Amino acid sequence: MELDGARTFVAGASGALGGSLARGLHDRGARVVVGGRRPGPLADVASYVGTEAVLFDAVNADACAEAVRAAVTQLGGLDLLVVTVGVAAFGPAVEADPAVVDELFAVNVLGPMALVRAAAPSLAEGDRGQVTVLSAILADLPTNQMAEYSATKAALSAWLDVLRRENRRSFSVLDVRPPHLDTGLETRALAGEPPSLPGPVPAADVVEAVLAAIAADGRVLGWDPKAGALVSRSA
Ligand SMILES: NC(=O)c1ccc[n+]([C@@H]2O[C@H](COP(=O)([O-])OP(=O)(O)OC[C@H]3O[C@@H](n4cnc5c(N)ncnc54)[C@H](OP(=O)(O)O)[C@@H]3O)[C@@H](O)[C@H]2O)c1
Repeated sequence: MELDGARTFVAGASGALGGSLARGLHDRGARVVVGGRRPGPLADVASYVGTEAVLFDAVNADACAEAVRAAVTQLGGLDLLVVTVGVAAFGPAVEADPAVVDELFAVNVLGPMALVRAAAPSLAEGDRGQVTVLSAILADLPTNQMAEYSATKAALSAWLDVLRRENRRSFSVLDVRPPHLDTGLETRALAGEPPSLPGPVPAADVVEAVLAAIAADGRVLGWDPKAGALVSRSA
């Protein structure tokens, strides 16, 4: 898609990847509104992109829809929705706290679905609509001590596959599946201690790859261990 002038809502811009993507999209000429939960970090990125931030809690589907409506109103429409909300949790599958599992699925799966559903009519109105969502390598490689986190990302990726097929005439769908990055996400987990993880990949590399894939209307950005990079796949 043409990024210059693209009316864009980045949901999760208070976080590391979301904030960097919002700034990168603004630098490439997109008109960006940012959304998230923590007002402090969101204010910094909102000031950078020059629009009013939108606060929402992803566990509440109505709040997700309201956040999209607020962004659409501010932008006068929507060409690009970028969803980077997400949270991790660790520990053995049989020991997971049901309340933690509920919150994981609410933030990682149900929230992103609600954001996309709310955005879909606006995205379909123009001729360059696109949805970009951060899932994770765990969608391809479910990992021990991360059963529930892996399951949320696999569910999200499955949903995005169907979303892409059902809406191919209305908007494109990019599913980004990065490996462990240096954003410190694991230190903000809802529960548990992370298992031994591979050395983190620089988030800056992923941000550049995602910006290029958005511009190219990519479908899936998956990790290629041989190349040591995210590579585009057809699905
Ligand atoms: N970092 C990695 O190693 C890695 C690898 C693969 C995939 N990913 C995925 O990439 C995405 C971004 O991760 P990141 O590394 O940038 O982590 P991050 O800095 O912790 O960002 C996570 C974002 O999710 C938001 N969030 C969490 N719970 C929320 C809730 N209940 N309501 C609204 N927003 C909520 C956070 O908002 P607040 O900060 O405002 O609470 C923040 O904006 C996530 O989906 C993650 O699963 C990350």
